[in-house]
Amino acid sequence: MKLIQVEDYQDMGKKAAEIILDRVRNTENIVLGLATGGTPISTYENIVQDHQTNGTSYQHVTSFNLDEYIGVRPDHPNSYHTFMYKHLFHHINIPQEKIFLPNGMAEQQQECRDYEQRIREHGGIDLQVLGIGENGHIGFNEPGTAFDSTTHVVDLAESTRQANARFFESMEDVPKQAITMGIGSILRSKEILLLIAGEAKSKALAKLLDKQVDEQFPASALHHHANVTVIADKAALQTQMSTHH
Ligand code: F6R
Repeated sequence: MKLIQVEDYQDMGKKAAEIILDRVRNTENIVLGLATGGTPISTYENIVQDHQTNGTSYQHVTSFNLDEYIGVRPDHPNSYHTFMYKHLFHHINIPQEKIFLPNGMAEQQQECRDYEQRIREHGGIDLQVLGIGENGHIGFNEPGTAFDSTTHVVDLAESTRQANARFFESMEDVPKQAITMGIGSILRSKEILLLIAGEAKSKALAKLLDKQVDEQFPASALHHHANVTVIADKAALQTQMSTHH
């Protein structure tokens, strides 16, 4: 696991975009795995800005998102579909037919199997972008999820619902379930880029850097992967800095 330290959230976005752009420019028919949430927004902003100024093309890019809420229509303002189009897909030239997110309105078990199958048919994910939950979740794989899990339906932890409540009118509007790529699906990506910023994530980052592998801390599965880069900002790294200096 390689650790890149950056100053702040904005710098994280620049560095992450730099890595993603390098792979996009140098890989034929690249398959990206993408995340939603607050973490990758500055990364997507940099990607959009680069597309506008340098014209980097996304015609050859396929993308699979990690997760989507169940019972939320794709065109709902709070769906992850809407999020991705708003922050990225509307602003770059990725072909519509190469964009994949789980469908939260489809028959769930079938959709999980189909999603996994679609990823396989595209040759697997070349570069997977991840954020991390305060409880160590990756995708919506909450503590206790098997490390060999494939795309599946999850009940969202109460703490995860609360963390996401800021995007909804009220707590009752926050969905209780989601479809997520499994930890096994994530580990099959050829390369993983984990983004961690802000003080709220410092405990999770400290635990990750502790290198103990434990199903109660989903992100620790990444220690089983040979090509993981973590980009972390100072605020997230503060626990390390105070213990090591
Ligand atoms: C999002 C996802 C989640 C988030 C995590 C952090 O697609 O899979 O694992 O990456 O919940 O969320 P933020 O970035 O909002 O702190």
